[in-house]
Amino acid sequence: MLSNKTIVLGITGSIAAYKAAEIASQLTQAGANVNVIMTKEAIQFISPITLRAITGRPLVTEMFDLASEFSIEHVSLAEAADIVVIAPATANIIAKLAAGIADDMLCCTVLATKAPVAIAPAMETNMYNNPITQDNLSKLKARNFVIIGPATGWLASGKEGLGRLADIDDIIGNIRKVLGRGGDLAGKHIVVTAGGTQEPIDPVRYISNRSSGKMGYALAEAARDRGAKVTLVTAPISLPEPVGVDVIKVGTAQEMRQAVVKVTSQADALIMAAAVADYRPIKAAKDKIKKREAGLTLELECPPDILGSVKGNFIKVGFAAESSNLVKNAKQKLQQKGLDFIVANDITASDSGFGVDTNKVTIIDQEGKIDSLPLLAKREVAERVLDRVVELLPKPKSR
Ligand code: PMT
Repeated sequence: MLSNKTIVLGITGSIAAYKAAEIASQLTQAGANVNVIMTKEAIQFISPITLRAITGRPLVTEMFDLASEFSIEHVSLAEAADIVVIAPATANIIAKLAAGIADDMLCCTVLATKAPVAIAPAMETNMYNNPITQDNLSKLKARNFVIIGPATGWLASGKEGLGRLADIDDIIGNIRKVLGRGGDLAGKHIVVTAGGTQEPIDPVRYISNRSSGKMGYALAEAARDRGAKVTLVTAPISLPEPVGVDVIKVGTAQEMRQAVVKVTSQADALIMAAAVADYRPIKAAKDKIKKREAGLTLELECPPDILGSVKGNFIKVGFAAESSNLVKNAKQKLQQKGLDFIVANDITASDSGFGVDTNKVTIIDQEGKIDSLPLLAKREVAERVLDRVVELLPKPKSR
């Protein structure tokens, strides 16, 4: 979704300016046209040559730099931008923007653009907490600027505190979210589940499965990037939380069910990529079970079927991980659980299903249409699943 987007990346004079090189690199690699504007203070911290080499594009450092193709028409960048991002943003640029000052190319571009503007503050804790900076940030927020961070951590002064530039993933995630605002899921609420639930045997042991959450997280991020409000109900896994998504952490199938019932009351679609435990101990032991040479027999029961029992006027999508009779088994689950469509994973191949970055799926719908997709990155599978969701959503009434 970043492909061919025009992003103006403003860099101001902070020790964190070197991180702008990584931001520019990630955006460029994702296919965006990154036009960098550096303030004169920023070039004390990082060389314009670095940014020029990374983006492969002309770069502006001066308002009246006749050698720059952009500065001749100083609003041309503002007009071309799909988003303006200032990272890092110093207290100085924040104050200037709040006051509407236009004394350098970056300020002029922000004043002249109709594109959304996101800023990632980076400064010492006291400067950030100063009521003047806070007032300035409030003014910008009130004018729909997106404020990313700051984070807490190691600062240039050698102290730890609030004011560190937000993580690069956080900045890129927010850029994606802002750019997705006009997407085909704008205004829709999509609930996604991910990961393998954990059913306790005793305080230290549980029954679970090999789900890494990658499929569910890819769906959540893809839905966010298409403009949806996304709620991700996730079992315990080790992936970083997606940016710009409401995350609800659960442990057991029962907890996942409660969360899903609650958040689907306003949902447009529920996509269950989670591998919910099919069995759980009837009763978890209160104390750690001692090792017995004779072995141990556990009595198991089935947790409630979430998809099959959750009610509401939303699109229901299930996943089925099958090692044999893929289509037959998936069709059975489609009917039993009353789904709009089901995504059957072929888990016989080592590059499909649990734990890996790719998936080979067959989408089967209520009309009996069977769509077998090739092996794709999970993010690509997510896009195809969401394409089907979009087709099923009620169409806006034409005037
Ligand atoms: O997490 P990854 O490592 O990326 O792997 C992704 C995945 C393989 C886990 C995922 O793509 C997947 O296939 N998830 C469903 C796994 C499965 O086989 O579920 P199932 O056949 O037990 O259940 C069918 C559907 O009913 C699923 O959507 C499941 O979420 C849902 N279900 C299951 C049990 C239950 N008690 N309640 C449910 O709602």
